[in-house]
Amino acid sequence: MRAKAGVGALGFVLLALLVFMILSTWSRQPAVAKPSPQPINFPHNVHAQTHKMDCQYCHADARRSEYAGLPSVTRCMGCHRITAADRPEIKKLAEYLTKNQPIPWVRVFKVPEFTYFPHKAHVRAGVRCQTCHGPVETMTTVGAVTGPTLVNDLMHLVGLRPAAPPLTMGWCIECHRAENAKRSTRAPLDCVACHH
Ligand code: HEC
Ligand code: HEC
Ligand code: HEC
Ligand code: HEC
Ligand code: HEC
Repeated sequence: MRAKAGVGALGFVLLALLVFMILSTWSRQPAVAKPSPQPINFPHNVHAQTHKMDCQYCHADARRSEYAGLPSVTRCMGCHRITAADRPEIKKLAEYLTKNQPIPWVRVFKVPEFTYFPHKAHVRAGVRCQTCHGPVETMTTVGAVTGPTLVNDLMHLVGLRPAAPPLTMGWCIECHRAENAKRSTRAPLDCVACHH
C-alpha cells in the first residue's frame, strides 16, 4: 500500500514537472511583442529598408576600425530637426541634443573581454553585416526576440526571418575554415589571433 502511494506521488510530481516544462517553453514562444529596451525606440527597418540608408552611413567606423560605432545625436538630428520632429521618440532625441548628452544605447552583440573581434578585416574581406547580425534592415528592434508587429512574429515562427547566429567560438572558426578553403582568404585559426 505504502509503496504504491509513493509511486503514485512520484508519478504526479513527474507529470506536474512535464506540464510545467511544456508551459514554460510555450511562454518562451515569440507570440507577444516586448517593448524596446532601448532609450529611444530606433527602427532599423524604417531607415535601412524603407529609406534605403546604407549601414555604414551610420556605422561609419566598421570599415576602418575594430568597432562598427554608433552615430552621434548630432548626426541623427541632421535629419530629425525637420523629419518627424513632432513625434514623441524624436522629441526624446532632441532632448539629448539640448542636454548635450550621448544616448545610452543598450549593447546587443558582445563577445567576452578576452576575445578580439575586429570589424575592419571582415568588412574589407566582403563579409556582409547580415551574415553575422541577421536581417537588420527588417528589424524594428535589433536583438529583440520578436518585432512588435504580427507579420514579424509570424515570420519568426515559420523561420523566414531567422535570428542572428550566436557568437560562439565554433561559429567563428567554422567560417574561417570555410572561407579559407573557398576563396583563399587568410582568416586566422591560431588561438592568439582571437585571444590576446
Ligand atoms: C540611421 C542610422 C542607422 C542605420 C542606417 C543603421 N543603423 Fe544599426 N544602429 C543604429 C543605432 C542608433 C543603433 C543603436 C540602437 C539599437 O541597437 O537599435 C544601432 C544598432 C545596431 C546593431 C546592434 C549594435 C549592438 O549593440 O550590438 C547592429 C548589429 C546594427 N545596428 C547593424 C546595422 C546594419 C546591418 C545596418 C544596415 C542594414 C544598420 N545597422 C543601419 C543606427 C543605424
Ligand atoms: C538621412 C536622414 C535620417 C537620419 C540620419 C536619421 N533618421 Fe530617423 N528617420 C528618418 C526618416 C525619413 C524617418 C521616417 C519618418 C516618417 O515616418 O515620416 C525616420 C524615422 C525615425 C523614427 C520613428 C519616428 C516615429 O515615431 O515614427 C525614429 C525614432 C528615428 N527616426 C530615430 C533616429 C535616430 C535615433 C537617428 C540617429 C541614430 C536617426 N533617426 C537618424 C530619417 C533619418
Ligand atoms: C564576421 C561577423 C561580423 C560582421 C561581418 C559584422 N559584424 Fe558587427 N559585430 C560582430 C561581433 C562578433 C560583434 C561584437 C564585438 C565585440 O563584442 O567586441 C559585433 C558588434 C557590432 C556592433 C556594436 C559594437 C560596435 O562595434 O560598435 C555594431 C554597431 C555592429 N557590430 C554593426 C555592424 C555593421 C554595420 C556591419 C557591416 C558593415 C557589421 N557589424 C559586420 C560581428 C560581425
Ligand atoms: C562569416 C565568416 C566569418 C565569421 C563568422 C567570422 N570571421 Fe573572422 N574573418 C573572416 C574573414 C573572411 C577574414 C579575413 C581574412 C583575410 O583578410 O584574408 C577574417 C579575419 C579575422 C581576423 C584577422 C584580422 C586581421 O587583422 O588579420 C580575426 C582576428 C577574426 N577574423 C576574428 C573573428 C572572431 C573573433 C569571430 C567570431 C566572433 C569571427 N572572426 C567570425 C570571416 C569570418
Ligand atoms: C577565430 C577566433 C577564435 C580562435 C582562432 C580561437 N578562439 Fe577561443 N573563443 C573565441 C570566441 C569568440 C570565444 C567566446 C565565445 C565562446 O565562448 O564560444 C572564445 C572562447 C574561448 C574560451 C572560453 C570558452 C568558454 O566556454 O568560456 C577558451 C578557453 C578558448 N576560446 C580557447 C581557445 C584556444 C585554446 C584556441 C586555439 C586552439 C582558440 N580559443 C582559438 C574565438 C576564437
